[in-house]
Amino acid sequence: MNAEARGGGAGNAEARNPEARNAQARNGRRGQHMLDVRGLRKVYEGHGRRVEAVRDLTFSLEAGELVCLVGPSGCGKTTLLKCIAGLLAPTGGDVLLQGGPVTGPPPGMAVVFQEYGRSLFPWMSVRDNVELPLRQKKHLSKDRRRELVASSLRAVGLDDAAGAYPWQLSGGMQQRVAIARAVAYEPEVLLMDEPFAAVDAQTRADLEDLIRDLWQQLGVTVLFVTHDIDEAVYLGQRVLILSASPTVVQEQLTIDLPDVRDQLHTRADPRFTQLRTHVYEQIQAAKRAAGADPAVPDEVPAARAPGV
Ligand SMILES: Nc1ncnc2c1ncn2[C@@H]1O[C@H](COP(=O)(O)OP(=O)(O)OP(=O)(O)O)[C@@H](O)[C@H]1O
Ligand SMILES: [Mg+2]
Repeated sequence: MNAEARGGGAGNAEARNPEARNAQARNGRRGQHMLDVRGLRKVYEGHGRRVEAVRDLTFSLEAGELVCLVGPSGCGKTTLLKCIAGLLAPTGGDVLLQGGPVTGPPPGMAVVFQEYGRSLFPWMSVRDNVELPLRQKKHLSKDRRRELVASSLRAVGLDDAAGAYPWQLSGGMQQRVAIARAVAYEPEVLLMDEPFAAVDAQTRADLEDLIRDLWQQLGVTVLFVTHDIDEAVYLGQRVLILSASPTVVQEQLTIDLPDVRDQLHTRADPRFTQLRTHVYEQIQAAKRAAGADPAVPDEVPAARAPGV
């Protein structure tokens, strides 16, 4: 679905302004279920091995929400995202997008994976990489495609790099290209699987702020998977804490921090510390329940220095 279709009637100045239109659309849909995961189960079988990766996951995202998902390594986060994205068939349960079952990659969804190096084509310019998925949208004119590519590159601060090749860019810039590609596609739902794990801390902080800015501008529903507890609390309106494998939702935590967040003040807020401590304790409890890694310390580690 494109921005026009989401935005409704285009008869006034607000409706002609893309940001106002997206905000209008988000407000109009707020409270509606965008994504439902119901009793999701995934068992991998083959080569004499059987892994119950996900046991029973049930949760929902409302339209326009930004929800972070954290859980111990190997608990099935990537498996879950692949099932939601229609890239992997679940063993049981359902994924519903706006009430309709997901049985293959849905047109309204975009995914950003961790390995940006592998997700961009080195022989294509940045512009062509971002444009590629738009070619599937047959109703888009060439001009509209170019407009979307230009505006999404501008949104991630890469308008100067449109003609460059991915291998000419830094890791953080390549990840921005991957984000621009997802944004240009105008998804209803954006799935992100540890998208910043491979970039340095300063770039990571910048990209976190970029995601919150884009989310606020575009009204997209975001499910963001991360290992990083501070990142989950900083970004999310809610944090879903998963148990160790076989995986269930251990807790859904509302992040009652102010909507306007910044790296210095939000991370220095005592409430931020309380929330991250709570999430950390829950994950440690999940690991202990599964008899996992005894080498993991029980105390809460020092906070990641803001903007370092
Ligand atoms: N294609 C596959 N075939 C068999 N088993 C798999 C496959 N993909 C994942 N698994 C297993 O499923 C479990 C969950 O893996 P998954 O990659 O979803 O975890 P994760 O939470 O994303 O881990 P990480 O935090 O390390 O990224 C693991 O035990 C893994 O070995
Ligand atoms: Mg993973």
